[in-house]
Amino acid sequence: MTTWLITGGAGYIGAHVARAMAEAGERVVVFDDLSTGIPERLPREIPLVEGSTLDRAALDAAITEHGVTGIVHLAAKKQVPESVAQPLFYYRENLQGLEVLLGASAAAGVQHFVFSSSAAVYGMPDVDLVTEDTPCVPINPYGETKLAGEWLVRAVRRRRDDHLCVGGLAPPPRWSLTAGRSSAGAAARRGTGGRPWAGGAGAQSFNA
Ligand SMILES: NC(=O)c1ccc[n+]([C@@H]2O[C@H](COP(=O)([O-])OP(=O)(O)OC[C@H]3O[C@@H](n4cnc5c(N)ncnc54)[C@H](O)[C@@H]3O)[C@@H](O)[C@H]2O)c1
Repeated sequence: MTTWLITGGAGYIGAHVARAMAEAGERVVVFDDLSTGIPERLPREIPLVEGSTLDRAALDAAITEHGVTGIVHLAAKKQVPESVAQPLFYYRENLQGLEVLLGASAAAGVQHFVFSSSAAVYGMPDVDLVTEDTPCVPINPYGETKLAGEWLVRAVRRRRDDHLCVGGLAPPPRWSLTAGRSSAGAAARRGTGGRPWAGGAGAQSFNA
């Protein structure tokens, strides 16, 4: 049975992911620096490890202690104006944090990795319907860190045999959860050849 480390699991979306996966019978552990997360969003039975994705030692310890074999990576800074004002901070938190996490994941032989991207990767497309084939032209550092994160995940996947998925948040459905089931876990197990995965019927998207 896979044990999932959910980074950013005390966040707005992460708490829903953690709860849904736990209710579906998955073993889950939350890893969160609580910079915007709220521990009370989580049921008591879900373990919460406080730490930053920039902290390799903390990640290694959490992965080892809990026997983590899958990761859902939601931890990120997501405020567009703040990303414009503090691009270095956003690249460090979102891209370097992903790089450190992927390193810890590879070292521990973690089999499944799901990365939450964002519709911000599309920028302001001049089309009525945005699809997975719409060109990605982010217009702010936040969106850039998400697109660069997709590239990093894909590059790592080419070197490893893991099931790495890239997901985004709707609209359009670059990321989805199926209520009551761990579609994130299912997507990870299914694998997508490194291409963005869009949820199908029954999927539920979350928009701020
Ligand atoms: N909310 C949306 O509509 C939306 C849309 C597109 C993409 N996303 C993506 O979904 C993910 C979750 O978004 P959210 O709306 O739940 O945001 P949120 O701010 O509520 O949650 C992010 C969580 O990550 C934690 N975190 C931040 N940086 C961290 C770090 N370096 N190490 C450990 N924990 C850290 C925060 O404490 C918080 O609990 C993000 O990756 C975001 O980019 C969200």
